[in-house]
Amino acid sequence: MTSLVFKRDSFAGLPVSHLFDRSNPLVHEILSLAEVLELKNPNPPAWLPPLARVFHWGYGICEDDFQENFLPVGNFLQETSPSLFSCDLGPAARKHEGILPISPIMGQKAIYERAKINLRLLRSKYDGPVALENYNFYPTGLYNRICDPDFIADFLSHFNLGLVLDLAHAAISAVNMGFDIFRYLEKLPLDKVVEIHVSKPYLPPEAGRLGVDTHEAPEEREWSWLSFVLDHTRLTEAKPLVLIEYYKDLKTLKKCMLRMQEKLNVDLSPSQNPIELLPKALSLQGALVNAKRG
Ligand SMILES: [Fe+2]
Repeated sequence: MTSLVFKRDSFAGLPVSHLFDRSNPLVHEILSLAEVLELKNPNPPAWLPPLARVFHWGYGICEDDFQENFLPVGNFLQETSPSLFSCDLGPAARKHEGILPISPIMGQKAIYERAKINLRLLRSKYDGPVALENYNFYPTGLYNRICDPDFIADFLSHFNLGLVLDLAHAAISAVNMGFDIFRYLEKLPLDKVVEIHVSKPYLPPEAGRLGVDTHEAPEEREWSWLSFVLDHTRLTEAKPLVLIEYYKDLKTLKKCMLRMQEKLNVDLSPSQNPIELLPKALSLQGALVNAKRG
């Protein structure tokens, strides 16, 4: 039944960033290439077009800062009911400075308990689909366990959550943990993917050095990762929202948006209105996650 309703494979999203100046015509051209807007704070510009909206928060589900800064975000979620809420999966310490922990490294049990507390807080204000983003692994202790594909799969199943798959983070984790990138992607729970982030990371040419999350504009290598994942998600009920996480200049961002549309083969025909389709597609995926767990 679902395949008759949802002919779309994916949706073209756009993070609302500091580059968005209403007086710049290029901003409006870029917005016209998006089907869904991703907000990152509870004070979005009032002039944004009436597209479907999702909300991504920059805190991790295990962080103390999640709880301490939640009030304005919770009120915004309650008032606006975005189609999806997402934040980061982890980290493995409640406090950190950049990639370094400044509180004890948590074991598996403590990670689950901490996430449970913050998810309960989130659910007091928001009952829509929730997904968590994979981090990039650095060997500092802050990323212990949480970048392991088996841990990610078990964690998302346990809490009935979707996956925001950041391809650059996955590539960095693979390189920094000594995996082949495609093997790492394959081991992730791709049936739970609701959103995909695309950007170009720095990956070292030789073994023994670390990859770094540099958020450059995606090139063919990064598009090949996207194609690999979409080839897998097309075999499932997943209808991911795909976003480019590049924040350096608008001309390059526009080129990337056009390339992404080619990759997604986006059909903007009026009969397929993303405002209507996206929430249904996401709640369908939420229902599937629930059904599998039940
Ligand atoms: Fe991301």
